[in-house]
Amino acid sequence: MNPSEYKKISPVVISTALGQAGRGIFPYTLLSGYRRLLRAVRETGTTVFTKSATRFTRRGNFIPTNPLTWRYIRRLPDLGMLNAYGLTNHGVAVCAPEIRRSEALGLNVIPNFYPEFIKGTATAIRETLEALEIYRQALGPHFWALELNYSCPNSAEEIAKNVDQGLQCSQAVRRQYPDLFLIAKISFCHPYEFSQELEKIGVNALHAINTIPYDLIFPPDHYPRSPLWEAGGGGVSGGPAWAAALNYNRGLRPKVKLFLIMGCGVRNREDVKRYFDLGADAVSFCTMALRDWREAETIIRTYNE
Ligand SMILES: Cc1cc2nc3c(=O)[nH]c(=O)nc-3n(C[C@H](O)[C@H](O)[C@H](O)COP(=O)(O)O)c2cc1C
Repeated sequence: MNPSEYKKISPVVISTALGQAGRGIFPYTLLSGYRRLLRAVRETGTTVFTKSATRFTRRGNFIPTNPLTWRYIRRLPDLGMLNAYGLTNHGVAVCAPEIRRSEALGLNVIPNFYPEFIKGTATAIRETLEALEIYRQALGPHFWALELNYSCPNSAEEIAKNVDQGLQCSQAVRRQYPDLFLIAKISFCHPYEFSQELEKIGVNALHAINTIPYDLIFPPDHYPRSPLWEAGGGGVSGGPAWAAALNYNRGLRPKVKLFLIMGCGVRNREDVKRYFDLGADAVSFCTMALRDWREAETIIRTYNE
């Protein structure tokens, strides 16, 4: 991949907070501040990573049209959130044409795909390659980059176990799509060796990190159990995740040469600067786009215009 292609990733990117097609998440789209942020994203050419799609329709915990399920996304103090969204989506065959529509509206969208390793490694890889073919057909030349989400946020054990599966999957994608700009989204629970192996395989960029499992931020011996314990505990994002995420990224930077998108925990422009000072090639945020639209808009207008 020509390094000039990296320029297609804006200095600050918005991760998953604008939905499966990058045009916004219901019911946030009812709010005028969020809609103003959407306008700024389009005007600045800000890179938008979509929410994860899976190969087929997946019914998670949070169903946007069912208010009874909105409890799976909660606010925490310090501009934080706890979510057990559960990857609800209509599947890649529906999501990919929607991303094409977003591109046609002038948005700079990179799809995020979640390989369902729970189905077994071979099936997950086959489905991932099928998904890529669907993206390629739907997006044509707009399909230049893909983010693979290896960091399903619910349990630390599951995440730690998927290292080998993530490597095999990245290798299969790399072989079949040698020119695709491949981004691996990793977890706080992944050892740094995972990133180093991904680099050897030829992944182009890392996105560190996804939400952090609740019990790792609020250890059970000090805090009451997660309000979403029955859904696996959920993932913590925004302010409460900042210190741990910063520490993880600080340790990761010297271990890889890859283009590194640092994120998780960003609450304001000072946090963005801290990540750049650590050597980030780009900085991402999600929760801030849902909790503080004004600050989110200021940041993307400052860095991306
Ligand atoms: C409500 C919600 C839904 C999310 N959905 C996804 C998802 O579908 N795929 C994914 O890779 N990350 C997802 N994330 C993780 C975010 O993209 C981001 O990596 C994480 O929240 C840490 O960044 P932040 O502290 O800036 O929010 C989600 C986060 C939240 C809060």
